[in-house]
Amino acid sequence: MEWNEDYNIGIDVIDNQHRQILDYINALEKIRVSGERDKIKEVLDDLIDYTQSHFSFEENLLEQVHYQYLPSHRGIHEHFVKRLNEYRVKFEQGVSVEQDLYRLLSKWLINHIQHDDQDYVDSVRDNMLHYLRAQEQKKGKSWFARFFS
Ligand SMILES: [Fe+2]
Repeated sequence: MEWNEDYNIGIDVIDNQHRQILDYINALEKIRVSGERDKIKEVLDDLIDYTQSHFSFEENLLEQVHYQYLPSHRGIHEHFVKRLNEYRVKFEQGVSVEQDLYRLLSKWLINHIQHDDQDYVDSVRDNMLHYLRAQEQKKGKSWFARFFS
């Protein structure tokens, strides 16, 4: 699965993290055909860990801009992490879930980026601009400025 420029939401730091998740999904698909369970497990663990830290980062950002739909966005993340962990448990029990997981991940990620994540972009931009203006008056550019293309 290749990254498509349409997947960019325009917040660089988030786009880069989404790309990284896609890299993990592709790595999982590549290692899946080898059938080497140890290596599959390693990639699976990395993928889940990284996805969780990406979600935390995103939720933290949304909290800072007082995104009004954060509770439901967080709920979507939690639900997804739960599903990932269910897959992990099944895998550990010896069930071959890799192909299903690959399908779920690739579909879910793109869908989530293009709908749920796209929904917060305006809110982040508006609130960040407001925040930036206040910061610039005080002490020049803030670290948030680097997130925008
Ligand atoms: Fe999200």
